[in-house]
Amino acid sequence: MNQLFRRVLAGILLAGPATAAMAADLTGDWVFQAAPSFPRFSKMVIRQDAGGLHGTITSEWYGDLPMLDLKVVGEGPAGKRLVFHIDNGNPKLKPLDLTLAPNGQGVTLTGQVWYEKQEASAHRATAAEMAALDFPTYPLPAPAHVPGNGLARTPPMGWSSWNKFAEAIDDKTVRDIADALVRSGLRDAGYVYVNIDDGWQGERGPDGVLHPNAKFPDMKALADYVHARGLKLGIYSSPGPKSCAGYAGSYGHVEQDARTWAEWGVDYLKYDLCSGEGFYHTAETVQAVYQQMGAALAAAGAATGRPVVYSLCEYGRFDVGAWGRDVGGNLWRTTGDIEDSYASMAAIGFDKNGVPHHTGPGGWNDPDMLEVGNGGMTTEEYRTHISLWALMAAPLLMGNDARSMTKDTLALLGNAEVIAIDQDPLGRQGLPVRKRDGMEVWTRPLADGSVAVGLFNRTDKPVVMTADWPALGLGDHPSVRDLWAHRSVAPRAVHTVPAHGVVLLRATR
Ligand code: GLA
Repeated sequence: MNQLFRRVLAGILLAGPATAAMAADLTGDWVFQAAPSFPRFSKMVIRQDAGGLHGTITSEWYGDLPMLDLKVVGEGPAGKRLVFHIDNGNPKLKPLDLTLAPNGQGVTLTGQVWYEKQEASAHRATAAEMAALDFPTYPLPAPAHVPGNGLARTPPMGWSSWNKFAEAIDDKTVRDIADALVRSGLRDAGYVYVNIDDGWQGERGPDGVLHPNAKFPDMKALADYVHARGLKLGIYSSPGPKSCAGYAGSYGHVEQDARTWAEWGVDYLKYDLCSGEGFYHTAETVQAVYQQMGAALAAAGAATGRPVVYSLCEYGRFDVGAWGRDVGGNLWRTTGDIEDSYASMAAIGFDKNGVPHHTGPGGWNDPDMLEVGNGGMTTEEYRTHISLWALMAAPLLMGNDARSMTKDTLALLGNAEVIAIDQDPLGRQGLPVRKRDGMEVWTRPLADGSVAVGLFNRTDKPVVMTADWPALGLGDHPSVRDLWAHRSVAPRAVHTVPAHGVVLLRATR
C-alpha cells in the first residue's frame, strides 16, 4: 500500500462513521414553512447510505436541485450543521454555502441565494406531504426546424415597458403609451410594437389557462385598443415556472399559453429564460425549449392568421445566433441586461453585438432595448447609443416614458435618416474597421451601395476625426451627408466629435 493511499484510507475510516452518526438527525424528508420568495424552497430529502450523504432540495423556481458538496460541519449537538450549495445554471450565482442546523423541532436553513437572504425552517414531513410538493418535469421535443414566419424582414421597432416601468406597468399606461406613439409621430417613423414586458401575469385557472393580474383587466380589449391605432401588441413569458420578476412562466403550459395569447391578439412574444436556466443548462435543452415555444406560436398563429414575432431572451448563451432562426426566432438577445449608463451601454454596444453574419432579414442580433430618454446618459451618449444600434441593425425598442419626451429625446428616436440606416433592407450588421486611442470607426454597407460610417469618440474629451474614404472603398470624393446635422458635408471635412459622442455619416461613391 503506498503512503498516499494509506493516508486516504485512514481519513475515510476516521471521517466515515463519525459523519454518519452526526448526520443522523438531519437526514430524512423535510417540508419548509414560509421560505423566502426566491427561490422559494419547498421541500428537501436528505439520505445517508453506502454512497455517503446526499440530498435534493426543491425550489418553486428551479425544481429539484442536487445539494452539492453536502457535508457535516461543526461539533457536538449544538454546533453540528450541514452545509451545501446549489447550481441554477447561472454563472452569477456564486456557490455560496447554505447551512442547515437543528432548531429543536426541525431544521433551519440559512444563507444567501443570489440576491435573496434565506432563513426558513423545515419540519419532518409525511410521504403524503412530500408527494403534494412533487415538482413535475416535462419531455422536450426532438430537434426540428420551425419554418420562418415571414416577419421582421427589418429589425423590429417599437416600445417596451421594462427599462422605464419594470413591474409598475398597467393597462392604462400601455394605452397612454400607444396614444403617445401616434401623437409624437413615432408610430409613423416605424415604432409599431407596444410590448408589455414582465409583470402582467396573474394566476392560472383550474383549467391551466393563465390570466393577467388585476392591473390588466382585459387583455383582448387592450389588444383591440392598440390595433385600432395601427400598432401591434407584444407580451412576455419564460420557459421556466417563474419569470425573472417571479411571475408565472409557461413551464408545462407552452402550447396553452401560445393559444391564449393568440386569442387575445398578441403579435410579439419575448421569451425570457429566467428560472428556466435551472432546468435547461445545455445547448441542446435550451434550444429544445425555445423550439417548443417557436412551434407553439407558429401553430397558434396559423390558427388565427396572426403570425407572432418571436424574441429569444437567453442572454446570448450557447451561440444562440447560430440556431435562433431554426427554432422560429426573429431576434435573440446577445447580452445580459442593459442599464441606463454610458458604461453599460458602451460595453454592450461596442463589444457585445453578437456574431455579425447571424443577423439579416427575418432574424436579428439583439443587444437589448434602448435607454434613450431615461435620464442616465447625456444627449451625446444617447446619440452614440442609437447610432451604434442603427449601425448594428439592432431592434429599436424604445425603453422610455413615451408620454413625456423632451425635444432632444424625440429628435434622437425620431431621426428618419438614422432609422433608415437601422432599417436598411440589405440587413447587414455594421462593424468597427478601426479602433485606436478611444476612437472607433464603424461602417455598414447599405442596399443602395452607399455606406453608413460612424466616427465614435469613447474618450471623455472632444477629439478631431476624419474619414479615410479611399480606405473605406469610397474613392476620393464621395458625396457625404451628416445624418445628425441633416446636411451635406465636404468629403474632407474635419469633424469634432464630442466626448462619448459620434458623427454619423452616409457616403455614396
Ligand atoms: C430579464 C430580461 C430583461 C427583463 C427582465 C424582466 O432580466 O433580460 O430584459 O425582461 O428580465 O424581469
